[in-house]
Amino acid sequence: MMKGCFRTDRIVRALHQLEHFQTGTRGVTRAFRRPAEFIDSGVHPRPSYPIGCFLLAAGGSGANVAAMPATSRRTSVFTESLIREMTRVAQQHGAINLAQGFPDTDPPASLVAAAKAAMDAGRHQYAITWGSPELREALAAKLTRYSGLPVDPQRELVVTCGATEAMMVAMMTVCDPGDRVGLFSPFYENYNADAILTGATPVHVPLQPPGYGFDPAQLRAAFASGLKAFVLCNPSNPTGRVFTRDELGQIAALAEEFDTFVITDEVYEHIVFDGRKHVTFATLPGMAKRTLTCSSLSKTFSITGWRLGYVHAPAEIIAQARKVHDFLTVGAAAPLQHAVVTALGYGPEYYVQLAAEYAAQRDILCGYLDQTGLAYTRPEGAYFVMLDISPFGRASDIEFSHWMAREIGVAPVPGSSFFPEPENRFVRLNFAKRPTTLHAAGERLLRLKRG
Ligand SMILES: Cc1ncc(COP(=O)(O)O)c(C=O)c1O
Repeated sequence: MMKGCFRTDRIVRALHQLEHFQTGTRGVTRAFRRPAEFIDSGVHPRPSYPIGCFLLAAGGSGANVAAMPATSRRTSVFTESLIREMTRVAQQHGAINLAQGFPDTDPPASLVAAAKAAMDAGRHQYAITWGSPELREALAAKLTRYSGLPVDPQRELVVTCGATEAMMVAMMTVCDPGDRVGLFSPFYENYNADAILTGATPVHVPLQPPGYGFDPAQLRAAFASGLKAFVLCNPSNPTGRVFTRDELGQIAALAEEFDTFVITDEVYEHIVFDGRKHVTFATLPGMAKRTLTCSSLSKTFSITGWRLGYVHAPAEIIAQARKVHDFLTVGAAAPLQHAVVTALGYGPEYYVQLAAEYAAQRDILCGYLDQTGLAYTRPEGAYFVMLDISPFGRASDIEFSHWMAREIGVAPVPGSSFFPEPENRFVRLNFAKRPTTLHAAGERLLRLKRG
């Protein structure tokens, strides 16, 4: 067993081809299923928290180990995103990509026209670092219109490169190294990485499948353990939960009692089904002063590649967040900031239609899943389904996902990438695809039908 400086990132990357590694490559001596096992093994010199995947230590010939200075520990203990990895696997096998959550439809034509116009109008240089004034005005008006949240566009908003940057900015703004950050598990895989990069320790509160509710006692215990911040994804990726006002009230009460920041990820705020209503957490009594609301224009306007998001919080917090954002990215793309003002002016019918279209797409995918006889969670919001693959009895969901992309022709995300626990029985499928794509995928999924 090798100890000390080796390229953990390479080893971790190799794990995605675990099958091939075990059969074809010399030098792999041991596999670890749990992050804790890996840490306890002493292979890595400091406890840290890898994102759910297999971890291996290389030894023997050391064929995969480069002799070079070590990169930082914090970057070596988490893997590349398994979600993005599965997009590459889908391409490799010509599979339909139901892994990474992005729509295969175009944004509204008027929005695309506005982007072209912004280019023609010469909007090519940096916008104001924390967002162009027009965009902040439009965001503030839209937030107030749809959630009732009063927003000061001058002092309470920072425009970011998507919610991805917004979440990182929020965490770095409120947490110091060593702080504890609570989050539900399963969780959107970025949050663990955000915590590690901030130097904070994630504290997981399990949601129980298939309904993905939380146990109030476990939630209280997490808050009581001394959380600096609690991360709330609502509507939730990957569970599809839309937390009720009552559930949110319980979180709010604990945040108040234990004086904890709440960092929300509300990128799916407009994708909710069956008459449910998304509640913006900061609108709950007393929560505006301790909530950093992160959201995105990616999903709402089908512009995931434009990289536009924001953080809203009280002015004193945003003053700090703007500095973090400034030194991370300087700013989001100026012409696209200008263009998206058009979309923020759309009326309520736009959002009604968006939710209706996604509900129809959910029904197409779920209709095929019903025919397979496999158990799955019907989402209340967002655009993901957790499919239970335990009847297949496979050793790992990662191996199952590669097999599914190769043999069934549909690429999912291994569920373990959302769990800190050794959870191996789910894959996640997304239905942010046009009906023809979903029907084509559904026909292939029927091959999963059991006996
Ligand atoms: C819960 C959640 N947050 C954030 C993001 C990323 O959003 P953005 O494109 O705005 O960075 C995603 C994308 O899948 C997501 O599912």
